[in-house]
Amino acid sequence: MATTITIANEKGGVGKTTTTVNLAAGLAIQLAETAGPSGRVLLVDMDPQGHALLAAAYGTHDVAPEQSLAAVLMETPPPSIQRMVRQGDHHLNLYVLPSNRSAMVEAARVLPTMMANETRLMHALQAVQNQFAYIIIDTPPNTGDLLVNALVAADHLIIPVETSYLGVSGLRELQNTIEQVRLHFKPQLNILGYLPTLVEEQRSEVREILDQLRQRYPKQMLNPIHKSSDLAYAHSSHMDVFSYRPPRQRSGGQLASSSRATQEYGELVLHVLQQTSR
Ligand SMILES: Nc1ncnc2c1ncn2[C@@H]1O[C@H](COP(=O)(O)OP(=O)(O)OP(=O)(O)O)[C@@H](O)[C@H]1O
Ligand SMILES: [Mg+2]
Repeated sequence: MATTITIANEKGGVGKTTTTVNLAAGLAIQLAETAGPSGRVLLVDMDPQGHALLAAAYGTHDVAPEQSLAAVLMETPPPSIQRMVRQGDHHLNLYVLPSNRSAMVEAARVLPTMMANETRLMHALQAVQNQFAYIIIDTPPNTGDLLVNALVAADHLIIPVETSYLGVSGLRELQNTIEQVRLHFKPQLNILGYLPTLVEEQRSEVREILDQLRQRYPKQMLNPIHKSSDLAYAHSSHMDVFSYRPPRQRSGGQLASSSRATQEYGELVLHVLQQTSR
């Protein structure tokens, strides 16, 4: 059975896609030596913008609607995900579900009028549960059925948080949505952690907000991801940061992280592996 992790925050531009792409790639790297399904990772991009797919599998962000994730959400019965899944560009064991922007926008519009509108992704993913170790889901920056489907399908959530006053106060709305999902669909839905992103610790207001977050979520705070040009450049080069900045070979053959960004996302990957091992 795959472990499904959704990266969510209704606020825009907080590092959801960057976290999705680098977590999925980092897990694929860690599992690369494991044969079969327990070594495979699937990335699902529920954001119509398709930015996670741009970085993970460039040719799959605008395929024909009937071969895309939107068809999985809208058709009854859904088309076979097994046949739709494609390999990503940078890692042999990282796969994606192709998407189509306008079909996903249409899905967001039409889903509220359909039966079982909140559980369609969860049910469709059941068909591939035995083919992947991890399913990592990116979400759009708004409330709606695409986000709700991604929450209902998840076992765990990672919530990237921008370290600003608005970033922290905006979390309440997401927490209400999570409570609704637990009440109606998934009582066991776990918040794996709050991930401070785009952190500039030299600014005193950022340090204050980090302290506030640590007080509010003492057990669920993840180590911060600092602002780093490598992450922005990797994204604009359509790559995860591990492919953009491959590890350096040390004398003695050991591998070392080549930048702060690979170090920090690498630690997140190890933490996730540890927290989700069964
Ligand atoms: N730690 C970081 N350091 C520098 N730039 C970053 C970092 N994290 C994200 N970015 C950049 O900030 C922008 C927003 O990040 P990202 O796209 O991951 O956010 P998002 O929450 O997915 O946004 P949206 O809500 O629009 O989907 C992107 O241009 C990305 O490259
Ligand atoms: Mg995004």
